[in-house]
Amino acid sequence: MAVIDQERLRTAVVGCGLIGARRAEETSLHSRSRLILCIDTSQSPARQTAERYGAAWSTDWRIAVDDERIDAIVICTPNAAVYDIALAALARGKHLLVEKPMGCNLAQAEALAAAAAASTGIFKVGFNHRYHPAISKAKELLDRGEVGRTISVRARYGHGGRPGYEKEWRCDPALSGGGELLDQGVHVADLLAWFAGVPDEAFAFLQSAVWPIAPLEDNAFGLLRYRSGVIASVHTSWTQWKNLFSFEIFGEAGSLSIDGLGGSYGTERLIVATRNRAGGAPSMREEVFEGPDRSWAVEWHQFVDAIEQRTPYWGTPADGVAAMRIVNALYASARDGVVVPLSQ
Ligand SMILES: NC(=O)c1ccc[n+]([C@@H]2O[C@H](COP(=O)([O-])OP(=O)(O)OC[C@H]3O[C@@H](n4cnc5c(N)ncnc54)[C@H](O)[C@@H]3O)[C@@H](O)[C@H]2O)c1
Repeated sequence: MAVIDQERLRTAVVGCGLIGARRAEETSLHSRSRLILCIDTSQSPARQTAERYGAAWSTDWRIAVDDERIDAIVICTPNAAVYDIALAALARGKHLLVEKPMGCNLAQAEALAAAAAASTGIFKVGFNHRYHPAISKAKELLDRGEVGRTISVRARYGHGGRPGYEKEWRCDPALSGGGELLDQGVHVADLLAWFAGVPDEAFAFLQSAVWPIAPLEDNAFGLLRYRSGVIASVHTSWTQWKNLFSFEIFGEAGSLSIDGLGGSYGTERLIVATRNRAGGAPSMREEVFEGPDRSWAVEWHQFVDAIEQRTPYWGTPADGVAAMRIVNALYASARDGVVVPLSQ
């Protein structure tokens, strides 16, 4: 039997696809965590990931939940598998990082939050976007009052899908729980809740424009309104042929614009505009964040700190539920053709 390092957070990754491989890497690189088990219902990703980091592997997630040597589990499966695995893991007091979204729908998210409240484990939703430097810096500037009172938010996020998309789990309602509004839209919903709070009213139109994935949507257009008067617009798209991430906050004294996430989304930048009260062009400054995407590393670091020192972290159960409430209200609005209140 392998000798287990008692000093490090002994971690299992469940679901070793695209994101599981990324999470496995961060778990291995961190000085205070160690990847000891890789699980995937499909043998080859489980084995390949395990071999890369000298971990054990299995095709059954229950092994991770039942193994007393495992301190933390990272769930990176299709959305539909999250609920059962997370509930079982919470019942055993494991620390959990669950990739967004927090299950398939609001009911699952709320049930997971209740289970997390009753568990000794830390429960975190993986919202890696918060850890992108332009985004966390914008939040810091907003909180510092850099652009004054918020007036509105405009968010656009999308990529162009790919041929055969309809055959992937993301486009199977039973496995995904929703289309693009849930997939990338839940990041936008989380950022909206983080920057401006949960809105009071939601209205949306959905579109299945190009990909043969109906009843799921490849585009979602939403409007959200706050009692304070703030209005937000969101557009998430799988027909955004040139990948795009844009999140803009407009305040009475200026604006914060986040553009790009690196890689195919373009260089990540934060543009701060300060209103010229005499009229005319604002004064502008721009910060450019080059280099590889470190959001996954920073997020993992915060999770390990939260477990070891009980320090605050982003992506709490309440954050996961807040994002799902927004997504849920937008779906309900599109279905019923009405403005939907977000009850507290
Ligand atoms: N934060 C982000 O920006 C981001 C980006 C992409 C995906 N995600 C999220 O990450 C999760 C995984 O997405 P992905 O793109 O890596 O998908 P993927 O298809 O690449 O990988 C999913 C893996 O899970 C395995 N799997 C399926 N059911 C399982 C089960 N019951 N137990 C164990 N393994 C199982 C599959 O065999 C597959 O290898 C999803 O929740 C998705 O929403 C987050």
